[in-house]
Amino acid sequence: MPKDDLQVMRDLIEAHREGFALERHFYTSGAVYDHDIKSFWNRNWIWAGHVSQIAEPGDFFLFDYGPESVIVVRDRDGGVRAHMNVCRHRGSRVCLEKQGSARVFSCPYHAWTFGLDGRLRGGRAMGPDFDPKDYGLFPVSVQIFEGLIFICADDNPPALNESLAQLKPLAAPMQLENMKLAHEASYPVPANWKLAIENYLECYHCAPSHQEYARSHSLKDPADVEKYAEALRERSSAIGLPNDELDLTGAASLAPGADVYWRRYPLFPGYLTGSKSGEPLAPPLGVLTGHDGGATDLAIGTLNYFLIYADHMVGYRFIPRGLQETDIQIAWYVRGDAEEGKDYNKEDLAWLWHVTSHDDEKIIRHNQEGVNSHRFQPGPLSEMEWSLPGFYKTYFNMI
Ligand code: FES
Ligand SMILES: [Fe+2]
Repeated sequence: MPKDDLQVMRDLIEAHREGFALERHFYTSGAVYDHDIKSFWNRNWIWAGHVSQIAEPGDFFLFDYGPESVIVVRDRDGGVRAHMNVCRHRGSRVCLEKQGSARVFSCPYHAWTFGLDGRLRGGRAMGPDFDPKDYGLFPVSVQIFEGLIFICADDNPPALNESLAQLKPLAAPMQLENMKLAHEASYPVPANWKLAIENYLECYHCAPSHQEYARSHSLKDPADVEKYAEALRERSSAIGLPNDELDLTGAASLAPGADVYWRRYPLFPGYLTGSKSGEPLAPPLGVLTGHDGGATDLAIGTLNYFLIYADHMVGYRFIPRGLQETDIQIAWYVRGDAEEGKDYNKEDLAWLWHVTSHDDEKIIRHNQEGVNSHRFQPGPLSEMEWSLPGFYKTYFNMI
């Protein structure tokens, strides 16, 4: 009798060779994909957006992944809440608009109506025994770090608080809560979500695959990072960034158990930020007094990645749409009071990560194509792919 797909997966986890890539099955099995959503995505914190996107009571946006849809909304009291976008009557999506402002959410099917707090306001013709209290929208956990909104669909989300408290003083001068969304883009890629995250996690591919990034960012070569690190520490300090704790958790931070990563690394001389010309792209964030030519790699949990320059932040997530369908979603944020056309220009701001994501879309697609071949066999990882074993371990532990 053939083994079921999940049993094959368990055997492969058991047999996994440390320091090697994952077996094809993890990227080609529909049963593993369903299991990924249930055991990994639904139980992890996912970065959904920023508080500035829902500034007023009633403002909301939808955040979707896999088969799930979540309503993220500012309630009457000014708090941020999230609800599963699934009607408690017969399951229709309740909210169909991607974003907007609402007083209530009314299901388009039979008009059950829910408050911003998720409570059911009443259902028509439901009989005397019906208690609306029993049928509110299912709540989704929310955590906010410096204005960044994270959601988790599980009733017992992983603890992040302590790590975030450690990050707070490092991030404070950037005032991430006072940013605004300047631009968003989505790059669909026909590949499993894990290949997209793995690609983001390593910079072994940066030199051969990212001409533009490699011209300005030292991360493609560890020796270059070392070479310019000291000068960056001085410049960072001069613009008001704490420089004594720039490497919070060290290179091992993506190992299982650790849940945040924060590290500022240097751009090459002549680059003040991640721009084509090297010139600033926007006013410095928060209380920073200038542009130091550095970039902070920030990871919160396993699914949420940010790159923070002195004048803008780029957020990345890799949203599963199907077994081999993933959206690389990128959002660019600038200081809240920056004006488009005057203080920044959208095209210039988005240029680097637009071209870089196009490259990534291609390499990830070709990666999946090769992995789909019957001849694929996981190869050994380079030392420049140090973060992948940590990701695999976290993944194995959760699934
Ligand atoms: S499914 Fe929503 S009211 Fe019936
Ligand atoms: Fe890349």
